[in-house]
Parts: sequence; C-alpha cells; structure tokens
Amino acid sequence: ALAFAAERPLIHFTPEKGWMNDPNGLFYDRKDDIWHLYFQYNPNQPYWNQPLYWGHAISKDLTTWTHEKLAIGPEHADEGIFSGSIVVDHNNTTGFFNESINPDQRVVAIYTNNADIQTQDLAYSLDGGYTFTKYSENPVLNVNSTQFRDPKVIWHQESYQWIMTVVQAQQYQIQIYGSTDLKHWNLHSNFSAGFTGYQYECPGLIEIPIVGTNETKWVMFLAINPGSPLGGSSDQYFIGDFDGFQFKPMDSYTRLVDLGKDFYALQTFSDVEKTDGVLAIAWASNWQYANDVPTKGWRSSTSLVRNLTLDYISTNPEKKLLSLVQTPVFESNVSKSTEKSNITLQKNDSIDFNADSGVFEFELNFKVLKKLTYPEVPNLDLYISTKDGAESIRFGFNPVIQAFYLDRTTDAFKNPFYTGQISANVEPYLDNEYKVHGVVDRNIIELFFNDGAVTMTNTFFLSEEANPCTMNLTSNMNDEFHIRSVSFKELSV
Ligand code: FRU
Repeated sequence: ALAFAAERPLIHFTPEKGWMNDPNGLFYDRKDDIWHLYFQYNPNQPYWNQPLYWGHAISKDLTTWTHEKLAIGPEHADEGIFSGSIVVDHNNTTGFFNESINPDQRVVAIYTNNADIQTQDLAYSLDGGYTFTKYSENPVLNVNSTQFRDPKVIWHQESYQWIMTVVQAQQYQIQIYGSTDLKHWNLHSNFSAGFTGYQYECPGLIEIPIVGTNETKWVMFLAINPGSPLGGSSDQYFIGDFDGFQFKPMDSYTRLVDLGKDFYALQTFSDVEKTDGVLAIAWASNWQYANDVPTKGWRSSTSLVRNLTLDYISTNPEKKLLSLVQTPVFESNVSKSTEKSNITLQKNDSIDFNADSGVFEFELNFKVLKKLTYPEVPNLDLYISTKDGAESIRFGFNPVIQAFYLDRTTDAFKNPFYTGQISANVEPYLDNEYKVHGVVDRNIIELFFNDGAVTMTNTFFLSEEANPCTMNLTSNMNDEFHIRSVSFKELSV
C-alpha cells in the first residue's frame, strides 16, 4: 500500500474526512460578513458514493474554513443532492421569508436532486445558511431526464428576473431559464459551444469587468467530463453579451480556464459587493483519478479563491484577444520572507529557499537574454523538494518553445491517467520577460503566469511525512536567464 501522508493543504479547503467534489452554493453573507462554501460531500467514505450531501464550511478571510454540519441531504440512501448554487432573495420573491429574516440572509439553494431522474429543487434557510428546509412543491424544474443538472442561478437586474443556467448534459446544451420567484421557470434559450467531451457539467453565466475600463462582458463557464483535451475533466469558457434571454458569444473561440490537470467545476460567489472582479472557487482534482489519489481518510481540496477579471492579455499588438485574468485571493501570515534580485544565472548556480511547513509562495520575474534556437534546449528549472532532497517535482521554462512545464513524474502516486508532465504556453510579458506567481501548499501547486493571464493548477503526492520544503532555482546554461527578482515567502495561518 502507498504510504502517502504529506500533511493536508493549509490554505486550501479540504473535508475533515470523506470525499469532496464540486464547490456548491458559494455566497457572501453581507450582514455577518461571512463567506459560505458548500460542496459535494460523501462523509462516509473517501470516495464518491451516495447518499451524497452538501457539506458546508464558513470563513472570515477566504483562507481558513470552519467545518459546519451537513447542510442538505437526500431522501434516500441511493440518491444525491448534486451540484447547485445559492442566491440571496433580498426582496423575498419566493415568499419563503418573513420580516424577521434580514434581507441579506434570505438564503435559497437551487440544486439537482439525483434520484430516478435529475430535477432542479429548492431549499431555503431561515438561519442564514446553516440549516435548510426543502420546498414542499419540489421539483421546480423537471424535463424528465436522467442527465439534467447543475443549476447556477444569478439575479439579472436589467431584465429584473432570476436567471438559471443548467445543462442537458448529454445533449450538449446549456439551457437558460428565467423566473421571477425561483419556483416557476421559463426556457429562454439554449447555448452549445466548445469541446463536447462526453458530457456538459456545471455551467455558469456571470458579468465580469474589463480591467481599466467601465465596461463588462458576460462569461459563460462550462465544465466537460470526461474527454477534455487536457485529459479527463476541465473547464472552458466563452465571452459575450447577455440580454436577459440569450447569451451571444463575441467570437467563436473556446478558451480554457486553467491549463493544469486539477481544476474543475468552477463556481462564482453570489452576493459579493465588489466591482473590481468576480470571486470563484474550483475543485482541485480530476475525475480521471480523483477517487484513487493516495490521501488518507479524505479526498480532494478546493482551489484557492480566485478573483476574475477580463483583459486584453497579449503584449503582441497584432493580437487583441480578451481573456480571463485570474489572481489568487488569500490572507496568510508570512513567517519568513527572502528576496534576491539581478542575478544572471550560470550553469552551476542554484538559488535556494526553504520552508519547513511545506506552504509557501514565490514570485519569479525573469528575462530571457539570448534568443536561442534549435538544437539548443535551454531550461530554467525550479525544483521543489522534500527536506532531504529525496523527492521532488520540477517546474520550469524553455524559451525556445516558449512554454512552462510541470513534471510530477517522480510522484509516489502512480495511476495511468495521472499525467506526469503538463505544460502551458505563455507569451512574453514585456521584452522577453516573464512573471510567475506560485503558491505551493503541501500537495498542490497553483501557478499564475504574467499576472494571471494564464494559470496552471496541479496536485502532487509525495510519500510519507514528506512535505515540499525546499525550492532551488537553476539553469542548464550560462548567461541565458536573468533573474530580475525572485521572492519567497513561507506562509502560515
Ligand atoms: C461534476 C458533477 C456534477 C454533479 C456532481 C455529482 O463534477 O459530476 O455534474 O452534479 O458532480 O457529485
């Protein structure tokens, strides 16, 4: 048996025990200033199985989470409360609330009841999101299908109605419904685009600001699984306009949210009062191997919370491509901080850092000095290793092919679908310069390139008692990489 037991991530949410997949029902309680996270949860075994519940956790800082009681559970053991969302019904459009319930705490969950068929159901909370009562006239939406799920609801102010996106999973359709009371829904339109994979899951439509302007665009998120071009499950998105009835993409491009293997079922938070972006969390795993990863007694973590904006990311004037820009949001203490700057790396140099806790972040800004071509294979390598150096993952950049890679083949976890080498092409930020922000949290590494223009999220599994404690920056060449600066912070909470 595998002896994996790195400690669990510290600044990423994990279930205390049992199995977790998609984040659900994300919302912010404006009255009590509390963030709520629900999630697909099997508390009984560390793998996906029914009965499946909505687990629940709360946070004050979007970084550390307190486990709460199960929020919603199914009627029968062979059923599940599948993915869905929460809205705050300030104006009591549902009639579920009386005057005594603060408008900022009128919490309604819209989720898929997975039984003989999949239907969209409601449950409301009279205590701000801790306990729920199922609506007596469920379901509120039934098309008599076994593959109809994952409702994400938002309030659309311009057309003054609730909007639901939900998938007809195996018909490859996102359906857009409207309602004035969350109980009665009218089909407005269907939307299909992008990679099909085996099926559509977890859609979401949200308005996102364009950096440096007063403009916004609408973004349609769509998860596919299995059959993503990256292998297994991953998230794609489309940018366009929404008039309350139909989503019209601005171009025909399918964009990927994250280029790593472990980033799926992203959901945005409801009721956040903030204009400089939209907050979201994803599930940091992949259905190809999620049920097999060598953690003990628990499985899966979420991603960090991300702030999402839109921007024209390329520095190439010929390209004017609007894309999602993602930056991590967390609050931690810095127990140790080091910074080095202006070093032109030579072949035997190694810039070394260490963080015994296995939790750290780094910012690396570098410039490629010479434009090399084949047969040169220059590499800037960053090894992230255990304290004794016996195990490591490797991360780096090759300027000839203009790509970053992550190599987790040395990992203790062996599974034929657990891709070992993952890469991401990134355009130079400025004149042959690149920026990398990395967050390493025991068994997960989230990478943000060029201020979040490209991201890559991957888990990794070192063996027993082995945390990723050291980072060494090296190159296989003289005078090829100039390190403008590299900073390293050991984190604690
Ligand atoms: C996505 C998903 C959803 C479904 C849930 C079941 O990961 O398959 O489509 O609602 O997980 O746990």
